[in-house]
Amino acid sequence: MTAPLRADLVTVRVELDARSYDIVIGQGLIASLGKRIGTLRPGAKAAIVTDENVARHHLSAAEEALAHAGVASNRVIVPVGESSKSFRVFEQVCEAIIAARIERGDLIVALGGGVIGDLAGFVASAVRRGVDYVQVPTTLLAQVDSSVGGKTAINSAYGKNLIGAFHQPILVLADTAALDTLPAREFRAGYAEVAKYALLGDAAFFSWLEANWRDVFGGGSASKSFAREHAIAVSCRAKAAIVARDERETGDRALLNLGHTFGHALEAACGFSERLLHGEAVAAGMALAFAFSARQGLMPAAEADRATRHLAAVGLPTRLKDIPGGLPPVEQLMDLIAQDKKVKRGTPTFILARGVGAAFIATDVDSAEVRAFLSEKLAEQ
Ligand SMILES: NC(=O)c1ccc[n+]([C@@H]2O[C@H](COP(=O)([O-])OP(=O)(O)OC[C@H]3O[C@@H](n4cnc5c(N)ncnc54)[C@H](O)[C@@H]3O)[C@@H](O)[C@H]2O)c1
Ligand SMILES: [Zn+2]
Repeated sequence: MTAPLRADLVTVRVELDARSYDIVIGQGLIASLGKRIGTLRPGAKAAIVTDENVARHHLSAAEEALAHAGVASNRVIVPVGESSKSFRVFEQVCEAIIAARIERGDLIVALGGGVIGDLAGFVASAVRRGVDYVQVPTTLLAQVDSSVGGKTAINSAYGKNLIGAFHQPILVLADTAALDTLPAREFRAGYAEVAKYALLGDAAFFSWLEANWRDVFGGGSASKSFAREHAIAVSCRAKAAIVARDERETGDRALLNLGHTFGHALEAACGFSERLLHGEAVAAGMALAFAFSARQGLMPAAEADRATRHLAAVGLPTRLKDIPGGLPPVEQLMDLIAQDKKVKRGTPTFILARGVGAAFIATDVDSAEVRAFLSEKLAEQ
Protein backbone atom coordinates (compact mmCIF):
# COMPACT_ATOMS: atom_id res chain seq x y z
CA MET A 1 0.00 0.00 0.00
CA THR A 2 1.14 3.54 -0.66
CA ALA A 3 1.82 5.95 2.21
CA PRO A 4 -1.21 7.76 3.70
CA LEU A 5 -2.25 10.72 1.63
CA ARG A 6 -1.62 14.20 2.89
CA ALA A 7 -3.39 15.95 0.07
CA ASP A 8 -6.97 17.19 0.45
CA LEU A 9 -7.73 16.43 -3.19
CA VAL A 10 -7.08 13.09 -4.79
CA THR A 11 -7.82 11.79 -8.26
CA VAL A 12 -8.17 8.10 -9.06
CA ARG A 13 -8.34 7.16 -12.73
CA VAL A 14 -10.59 4.33 -13.91
CA GLU A 15 -8.80 2.95 -16.99
CA LEU A 16 -11.33 1.67 -19.51
CA ASP A 17 -9.92 2.82 -22.87
CA ALA A 18 -12.31 5.32 -24.45
CA ARG A 19 -14.60 5.05 -21.42
CA SER A 20 -11.92 6.01 -18.88
CA TYR A 21 -12.82 8.59 -16.25
CA ASP A 22 -11.63 10.28 -13.07
CA ILE A 23 -12.88 9.85 -9.55
CA VAL A 24 -12.08 13.10 -7.74
CA ILE A 25 -12.17 12.93 -3.94
CA GLY A 26 -12.02 15.89 -1.56
CA GLN A 27 -13.85 18.30 0.73
CA GLY A 28 -16.26 20.79 -0.79
CA LEU A 29 -16.01 19.49 -4.36
CA ILE A 30 -19.67 20.10 -5.18
CA ALA A 31 -18.72 23.76 -5.57
CA SER A 32 -16.56 22.77 -8.56
CA LEU A 33 -19.26 20.71 -10.31
CA GLY A 34 -20.17 23.31 -12.93
CA LYS A 35 -16.58 24.14 -13.82
CA ARG A 36 -15.68 20.49 -14.23
CA ILE A 37 -18.73 19.76 -16.36
CA GLY A 38 -18.04 22.86 -18.46
CA THR A 39 -14.51 21.60 -19.08
CA LEU A 40 -15.56 18.04 -19.93
CA ARG A 41 -18.60 18.92 -22.07
CA PRO A 42 -18.54 22.59 -23.08
CA GLY A 43 -22.05 23.94 -23.70
CA ALA A 44 -23.85 20.92 -22.23
CA LYS A 45 -27.09 21.24 -20.22
CA ALA A 46 -27.58 19.13 -17.10
CA ALA A 47 -30.46 17.49 -15.28
CA ILE A 48 -29.82 16.72 -11.63
CA VAL A 49 -31.54 13.57 -10.33
CA THR A 50 -31.66 13.38 -6.55
CA ASP A 51 -33.84 12.23 -3.64
CA GLU A 52 -35.78 14.31 -1.12
CA ASN A 53 -33.21 13.98 1.68
CA VAL A 54 -30.24 14.86 -0.47
CA ALA A 55 -32.18 17.69 -2.13
CA ARG A 56 -32.72 19.24 1.29
CA HIS A 57 -29.03 19.19 2.15
CA HIS A 58 -27.08 19.50 -1.09
CA LEU A 59 -29.22 20.38 -4.12
CA SER A 60 -28.92 24.14 -3.89
CA ALA A 61 -25.11 23.92 -3.66
CA ALA A 62 -25.06 21.74 -6.78
CA GLU A 63 -27.42 24.05 -8.66
CA GLU A 64 -25.44 27.13 -7.67
CA ALA A 65 -22.21 25.49 -8.82
CA LEU A 66 -23.76 24.77 -12.22
CA ALA A 67 -25.29 28.22 -12.57
CA HIS A 68 -22.02 29.86 -11.57
CA ALA A 69 -20.26 28.10 -14.45
CA GLY A 70 -23.07 28.92 -16.87
CA VAL A 71 -24.41 25.35 -17.08
CA ALA A 72 -28.22 25.39 -17.43
CA SER A 73 -29.90 22.78 -15.23
CA ASN A 74 -33.17 21.12 -14.31
CA ARG A 75 -33.95 19.04 -11.22
CA VAL A 76 -35.75 15.72 -10.85
CA ILE A 77 -36.47 14.78 -7.23
CA VAL A 78 -37.62 11.25 -6.37
CA PRO A 79 -38.79 9.77 -3.06
CA VAL A 80 -36.17 8.47 -0.62
CA GLY A 81 -35.34 4.78 -0.52
CA GLU A 82 -34.90 1.56 -2.43
CA SER A 83 -38.49 1.70 -3.72
CA SER A 84 -37.37 4.40 -6.17
CA LYS A 85 -35.38 1.73 -8.06
CA SER A 86 -38.67 0.71 -9.71
CA PHE A 87 -40.12 0.68 -13.24
CA ARG A 88 -42.58 3.37 -12.19
CA VAL A 89 -39.97 5.84 -10.96
CA PHE A 90 -37.64 4.89 -13.83
CA GLU A 91 -40.40 5.87 -16.26
CA GLN A 92 -41.10 9.13 -14.44
CA VAL A 93 -37.44 10.11 -14.43
CA CYS A 94 -37.00 9.20 -18.13
CA GLU A 95 -40.00 11.34 -19.07
CA ALA A 96 -38.80 14.23 -16.91
CA ILE A 97 -35.36 14.07 -18.54
CA ILE A 98 -36.89 14.12 -22.01
CA ALA A 99 -39.24 16.96 -21.00
CA ALA A 100 -36.17 18.90 -19.84
CA ARG A 101 -34.81 18.48 -23.40
CA ILE A 102 -31.71 16.62 -22.34
CA GLU A 103 -30.25 15.46 -25.60
CA ARG A 104 -27.15 13.56 -26.63
CA GLY A 105 -24.27 15.81 -25.66
CA ASP A 106 -26.07 16.94 -22.50
CA LEU A 107 -25.84 15.11 -19.25
CA ILE A 108 -27.47 13.73 -16.15
CA VAL A 109 -26.04 14.37 -12.70
CA ALA A 110 -26.75 11.63 -10.15
CA LEU A 111 -26.66 13.48 -6.81
CA GLY A 112 -27.22 11.04 -3.96
CA GLY A 113 -26.52 7.60 -2.58
CA GLY A 114 -26.46 4.27 -4.37
CA VAL A 115 -30.20 4.35 -5.06
CA ILE A 116 -29.87 7.57 -7.05
CA GLY A 117 -26.66 6.45 -8.75
CA ASP A 118 -28.20 3.16 -9.88
CA LEU A 119 -31.48 4.75 -10.99
CA ALA A 120 -30.08 7.85 -12.71
CA GLY A 121 -27.28 5.79 -14.28
CA PHE A 122 -29.80 3.37 -15.76
CA VAL A 123 -31.92 6.28 -17.01
CA ALA A 124 -28.76 7.72 -18.62
CA SER A 125 -28.06 4.39 -20.31
CA ALA A 126 -31.55 4.30 -21.82
CA VAL A 127 -32.73 7.83 -22.66
CA ARG A 128 -31.99 8.59 -26.32
CA ARG A 129 -30.06 5.29 -26.39
CA GLY A 130 -27.58 6.66 -23.92
CA VAL A 131 -26.53 10.06 -22.60
CA ASP A 132 -23.51 10.90 -20.45
CA TYR A 133 -23.79 11.15 -16.71
CA VAL A 134 -21.78 12.34 -13.74
CA GLN A 135 -21.90 10.65 -10.35
CA VAL A 136 -21.92 12.91 -7.30
CA PRO A 137 -22.15 10.27 -4.56
CA THR A 138 -23.31 11.54 -1.16
CA THR A 139 -23.16 8.38 0.96
CA LEU A 140 -19.96 6.61 2.00
CA LEU A 141 -21.25 3.45 0.30
CA ALA A 142 -21.78 5.33 -2.95
CA GLN A 143 -18.39 7.09 -2.74
CA VAL A 144 -16.41 3.87 -2.34
CA ASP A 145 -18.57 1.41 -4.22
CA SER A 146 -21.75 2.05 -6.20
CA SER A 147 -20.64 5.21 -8.07
CA VAL A 148 -17.56 3.45 -9.44
CA GLY A 149 -17.65 0.76 -12.10
CA GLY A 150 -20.66 1.56 -14.24
CA LYS A 151 -23.17 -0.97 -12.93
CA THR A 152 -26.64 0.58 -13.01
CA ALA A 153 -29.98 -1.05 -12.24
CA ILE A 154 -33.50 -1.02 -10.94
CA ASN A 155 -35.24 -3.85 -9.10
CA SER A 156 -37.59 -6.55 -10.40
CA ALA A 157 -40.41 -8.19 -8.48
CA TYR A 158 -38.13 -11.26 -8.63
CA GLY A 159 -35.14 -9.62 -7.03
CA LYS A 160 -32.83 -6.65 -6.66
CA ASN A 161 -30.82 -5.14 -9.53
CA LEU A 162 -32.15 -7.60 -12.11
CA ILE A 163 -32.90 -4.94 -14.75
CA GLY A 164 -29.95 -2.78 -15.65
CA ALA A 165 -27.01 -1.95 -17.84
CA PHE A 166 -23.30 -1.35 -17.73
CA HIS A 167 -22.95 2.37 -18.35
CA GLN A 168 -19.82 4.17 -17.14
CA PRO A 169 -20.06 7.76 -15.85
CA ILE A 170 -17.77 10.42 -17.36
CA LEU A 171 -16.78 11.71 -13.92
CA VAL A 172 -17.24 10.80 -10.27
CA LEU A 173 -17.11 13.71 -7.86
CA ALA A 174 -16.89 12.47 -4.26
CA ASP A 175 -17.35 15.47 -1.97
CA THR A 176 -16.35 14.16 1.44
CA ALA A 177 -17.96 17.15 3.17
CA ALA A 178 -21.34 15.93 1.86
CA LEU A 179 -20.97 13.01 4.29
CA ASP A 180 -21.26 15.44 7.24
CA THR A 181 -25.06 15.30 6.91
CA LEU A 182 -25.22 11.51 6.56
CA PRO A 183 -26.79 9.65 9.53
CA ALA A 184 -24.14 7.83 11.60
CA ARG A 185 -25.71 4.44 10.94
CA GLU A 186 -25.49 4.97 7.16
CA PHE A 187 -21.85 6.05 7.46
CA ARG A 188 -21.02 2.94 9.49
CA ALA A 189 -22.80 0.68 6.99
CA GLY A 190 -20.77 2.24 4.16
CA TYR A 191 -17.60 1.62 6.14
CA ALA A 192 -18.22 -2.13 5.78
CA GLU A 193 -17.41 -1.76 2.06
CA VAL A 194 -14.20 0.15 2.93
CA ALA A 195 -13.15 -2.70 5.23
CA LYS A 196 -14.09 -5.11 2.43
CA TYR A 197 -11.36 -3.77 0.12
CA ALA A 198 -8.80 -4.20 2.89
CA LEU A 199 -9.98 -7.68 3.80
CA LEU A 200 -10.13 -8.90 0.23
CA GLY A 201 -6.78 -7.72 -1.04
CA ASP A 202 -4.81 -5.22 1.03
CA ALA A 203 -3.49 -6.36 4.43
CA ALA A 204 -1.49 -3.13 4.91
CA PHE A 205 -4.67 -1.07 4.41
CA PHE A 206 -6.39 -3.27 6.99
CA SER A 207 -3.65 -2.49 9.54
CA TRP A 208 -4.01 1.18 8.68
CA LEU A 209 -7.79 1.01 9.23
CA GLU A 210 -7.29 -0.75 12.58
CA ALA A 211 -5.09 2.18 13.67
CA ASN A 212 -6.98 5.06 12.03
CA TRP A 213 -10.68 4.20 11.77
CA ARG A 214 -11.64 6.77 14.40
CA ASP A 215 -10.24 9.54 12.21
CA VAL A 216 -12.11 8.12 9.20
CA PHE A 217 -15.38 8.30 11.17
CA GLY A 218 -14.57 11.64 12.78
CA GLY A 219 -13.00 13.22 9.71
CA GLY A 220 -15.73 15.63 8.67
CA SER A 221 -15.11 19.04 7.18
CA ALA A 222 -14.04 20.37 10.60
CA SER A 223 -11.27 17.78 10.83
CA LYS A 224 -7.63 18.45 10.14
CA SER A 225 -7.02 14.82 9.25
CA PHE A 226 -7.29 13.47 5.74
CA ALA A 227 -7.92 9.95 7.01
CA ARG A 228 -11.40 9.92 5.49
CA GLU A 229 -10.15 11.06 2.10
CA HIS A 230 -7.35 8.49 2.31
CA ALA A 231 -9.73 5.62 3.11
CA ILE A 232 -12.06 6.60 0.27
CA ALA A 233 -9.20 7.00 -2.21
CA VAL A 234 -7.63 3.63 -1.36
CA SER A 235 -11.06 1.99 -1.66
CA CYS A 236 -11.75 3.63 -5.03
CA ARG A 237 -8.29 2.67 -6.27
CA ALA A 238 -8.97 -0.95 -5.31
CA LYS A 239 -12.34 -1.00 -7.04
CA ALA A 240 -11.00 0.86 -10.10
CA ALA A 241 -8.20 -1.69 -10.49
CA ILE A 242 -10.60 -4.62 -10.32
CA VAL A 243 -13.08 -2.98 -12.70
CA ALA A 244 -10.29 -2.17 -15.18
CA ARG A 245 -9.32 -5.86 -15.17
CA ASP A 246 -12.87 -7.18 -15.43
CA GLU A 247 -15.46 -4.57 -16.37
CA ARG A 248 -18.32 -7.01 -16.92
CA GLU A 249 -17.69 -9.41 -14.06
CA THR A 250 -16.57 -12.51 -15.88
CA GLY A 251 -13.77 -13.15 -13.41
CA ASP A 252 -11.95 -11.11 -10.78
CA ARG A 253 -14.74 -8.60 -10.19
CA ALA A 254 -16.51 -11.32 -8.21
CA LEU A 255 -13.95 -10.70 -5.43
CA LEU A 256 -15.95 -7.55 -4.67
CA ASN A 257 -18.67 -9.89 -3.45
CA LEU A 258 -16.69 -10.79 -0.34
CA GLY A 259 -19.28 -11.10 2.43
CA HIS A 260 -22.11 -10.68 -0.06
CA THR A 261 -23.27 -14.29 -0.55
CA PHE A 262 -23.93 -14.68 3.17
CA GLY A 263 -24.85 -10.99 3.43
CA HIS A 264 -27.54 -11.08 0.74
CA ALA A 265 -29.16 -14.09 2.39
CA LEU A 266 -29.28 -12.18 5.69
CA GLU A 267 -30.64 -9.06 3.98
CA ALA A 268 -33.31 -11.11 2.26
CA ALA A 269 -34.15 -12.88 5.53
CA CYS A 270 -34.76 -9.42 7.03
CA GLY A 271 -36.92 -8.45 4.05
CA PHE A 272 -34.42 -5.81 2.85
CA SER A 273 -35.72 -3.59 5.64
CA GLU A 274 -34.35 -1.04 8.07
CA ARG A 275 -33.64 -4.00 10.36
CA LEU A 276 -30.43 -4.68 8.48
CA LEU A 277 -28.80 -2.20 6.09
CA HIS A 278 -26.81 -3.56 3.16
CA GLY A 279 -23.44 -2.66 4.68
CA GLU A 280 -24.45 -4.21 8.01
CA ALA A 281 -25.36 -7.43 6.19
CA VAL A 282 -22.01 -7.33 4.38
CA ALA A 283 -20.16 -6.91 7.69
CA ALA A 284 -21.92 -9.95 9.17
CA GLY A 285 -21.37 -11.76 5.86
CA MET A 286 -17.63 -11.02 5.88
CA ALA A 287 -17.34 -12.23 9.48
CA LEU A 288 -19.10 -15.45 8.37
CA ALA A 289 -16.88 -15.82 5.28
CA PHE A 290 -13.73 -15.48 7.41
CA ALA A 291 -15.02 -17.84 10.11
CA PHE A 292 -16.03 -20.38 7.44
CA SER A 293 -12.61 -20.05 5.78
CA ALA A 294 -10.92 -20.74 9.13
CA ARG A 295 -13.22 -23.72 9.70
CA GLN A 296 -12.13 -25.05 6.28
CA GLY A 297 -8.52 -24.85 7.43
CA LEU A 298 -7.68 -21.98 5.09
CA MET A 299 -6.40 -19.71 7.88
CA PRO A 300 -5.87 -19.82 11.65
CA ALA A 301 -8.95 -19.00 13.75
CA ALA A 302 -7.02 -16.06 15.24
CA GLU A 303 -6.77 -14.47 11.77
CA ALA A 304 -10.54 -14.69 11.26
CA ASP A 305 -11.04 -13.26 14.75
CA ARG A 306 -8.85 -10.28 13.84
CA ALA A 307 -11.09 -9.47 10.86
CA THR A 308 -14.22 -9.79 12.96
CA ARG A 309 -12.81 -7.80 15.87
CA HIS A 310 -12.27 -4.73 13.71
CA LEU A 311 -15.78 -4.82 12.25
CA ALA A 312 -17.22 -5.19 15.75
CA ALA A 313 -15.01 -2.34 17.05
CA VAL A 314 -16.60 0.15 14.67
CA GLY A 315 -20.05 -1.03 15.75
CA LEU A 316 -21.00 -3.27 12.82
CA PRO A 317 -22.89 -6.53 13.40
CA THR A 318 -20.65 -9.61 13.16
CA ARG A 319 -22.69 -12.31 14.90
CA LEU A 320 -26.07 -13.63 13.84
CA LYS A 321 -27.40 -12.69 17.26
CA ASP A 322 -26.45 -9.05 16.54
CA ILE A 323 -29.22 -8.98 13.92
CA PRO A 324 -32.43 -7.75 15.57
CA GLY A 325 -35.69 -9.61 15.12
CA GLY A 326 -34.39 -13.16 14.76
CA LEU A 327 -33.46 -15.20 11.69
CA PRO A 328 -35.24 -18.04 9.89
CA PRO A 329 -34.08 -21.67 10.21
CA VAL A 330 -31.00 -22.86 8.37
CA GLU A 331 -32.92 -24.47 5.48
CA GLN A 332 -34.46 -21.12 4.64
CA LEU A 333 -31.07 -19.36 4.78
CA MET A 334 -29.66 -22.06 2.47
CA ASP A 335 -32.56 -21.46 0.04
CA LEU A 336 -31.81 -17.73 0.07
CA ILE A 337 -28.13 -18.43 -0.65
CA ALA A 338 -29.14 -20.69 -3.54
CA GLN A 339 -31.30 -17.90 -4.98
CA ASP A 340 -28.42 -15.43 -5.06
CA LYS A 341 -27.89 -14.14 -8.57
CA LYS A 342 -24.21 -15.06 -8.41
CA VAL A 343 -25.23 -18.73 -8.47
CA LYS A 344 -23.87 -20.50 -11.53
CA ARG A 345 -25.67 -23.72 -12.48
CA GLY A 346 -26.86 -24.39 -8.95
CA THR A 347 -23.51 -23.88 -7.19
CA PRO A 348 -23.23 -20.63 -5.26
CA THR A 349 -19.91 -18.84 -5.61
CA PHE A 350 -18.36 -17.98 -2.26
CA ILE A 351 -15.54 -15.57 -1.73
CA LEU A 352 -13.30 -17.18 0.86
CA ALA A 353 -9.93 -16.06 2.23
CA ARG A 354 -6.53 -17.46 3.17
CA GLY A 355 -6.08 -14.56 5.58
CA VAL A 356 -6.64 -10.82 5.90
CA GLY A 357 -6.03 -9.31 2.43
CA ALA A 358 -6.06 -12.69 0.67
CA ALA A 359 -9.55 -13.45 -0.67
CA PHE A 360 -10.21 -15.80 -3.57
CA ILE A 361 -13.16 -17.07 -5.58
CA ALA A 362 -14.28 -20.53 -4.45
CA THR A 363 -16.65 -22.35 -6.78
CA ASP A 364 -16.44 -25.81 -5.20
CA VAL A 365 -17.83 -25.10 -1.74
CA ASP A 366 -19.77 -28.04 -0.33
CA SER A 367 -23.32 -26.94 0.58
CA ALA A 368 -23.48 -29.50 3.38
CA GLU A 369 -20.51 -27.83 5.06
CA VAL A 370 -22.08 -24.39 4.70
CA ARG A 371 -25.30 -25.76 6.20
CA ALA A 372 -23.45 -27.31 9.15
CA PHE A 373 -21.52 -24.07 9.71
CA LEU A 374 -24.64 -21.89 9.61
CA SER A 375 -26.49 -24.27 11.96
CA GLU A 376 -23.70 -23.82 14.49
CA LYS A 377 -23.80 -20.04 14.07
CA LEU A 378 -27.59 -19.98 14.48
CA ALA A 379 -27.26 -22.07 17.64
CA GLU A 380 -24.98 -19.39 19.12
CA GLN A 381 -28.03 -17.11 19.29
N1 LIG B 1 -24.04 -0.15 -8.81
C1 LIG B 1 -23.27 -0.72 -7.93
O1 LIG B 1 -22.15 -1.18 -8.24
C2 LIG B 1 -23.76 -0.85 -6.52
C3 LIG B 1 -22.89 -1.28 -5.52
C4 LIG B 1 -23.36 -1.32 -4.22
C5 LIG B 1 -24.65 -0.93 -3.92
N2 LIG B 1 -25.48 -0.51 -4.92
C6 LIG B 1 -26.85 -0.06 -4.63
O2 LIG B 1 -26.76 1.07 -3.79
C7 LIG B 1 -27.98 1.19 -3.06
C8 LIG B 1 -27.67 1.55 -1.64
O3 LIG B 1 -26.97 2.77 -1.62
P1 LIG B 1 -26.94 3.71 -0.31
O4 LIG B 1 -26.60 2.90 0.86
O5 LIG B 1 -26.13 4.88 -0.65
O6 LIG B 1 -28.50 4.05 -0.13
P2 LIG B 1 -29.40 5.35 -0.42
O7 LIG B 1 -29.09 5.93 -1.73
O8 LIG B 1 -30.79 4.92 -0.18
O9 LIG B 1 -28.94 6.35 0.72
C9 LIG B 1 -29.15 6.00 2.08
C10 LIG B 1 -29.95 7.07 2.82
O10 LIG B 1 -29.13 8.22 3.02
C11 LIG B 1 -29.78 9.39 2.52
N3 LIG B 1 -28.71 10.27 2.10
C12 LIG B 1 -27.88 10.13 1.04
N4 LIG B 1 -26.90 11.04 1.07
C13 LIG B 1 -27.12 11.80 2.17
C14 LIG B 1 -26.44 12.89 2.76
N5 LIG B 1 -25.28 13.34 2.26
N6 LIG B 1 -26.95 13.43 3.88
C15 LIG B 1 -28.08 12.93 4.44
N7 LIG B 1 -28.75 11.88 3.95
C16 LIG B 1 -28.27 11.32 2.82
C17 LIG B 1 -30.69 8.90 1.45
O11 LIG B 1 -31.74 9.79 1.22
C18 LIG B 1 -31.16 7.58 2.06
O12 LIG B 1 -32.18 7.82 2.99
C19 LIG B 1 -28.70 -0.15 -3.22
O13 LIG B 1 -29.80 0.02 -4.06
C20 LIG B 1 -27.66 -1.05 -3.86
O14 LIG B 1 -28.25 -2.02 -4.70
C21 LIG B 1 -25.05 -0.46 -6.21
ZN1 LIG C 1 -22.11 -4.23 -1.19
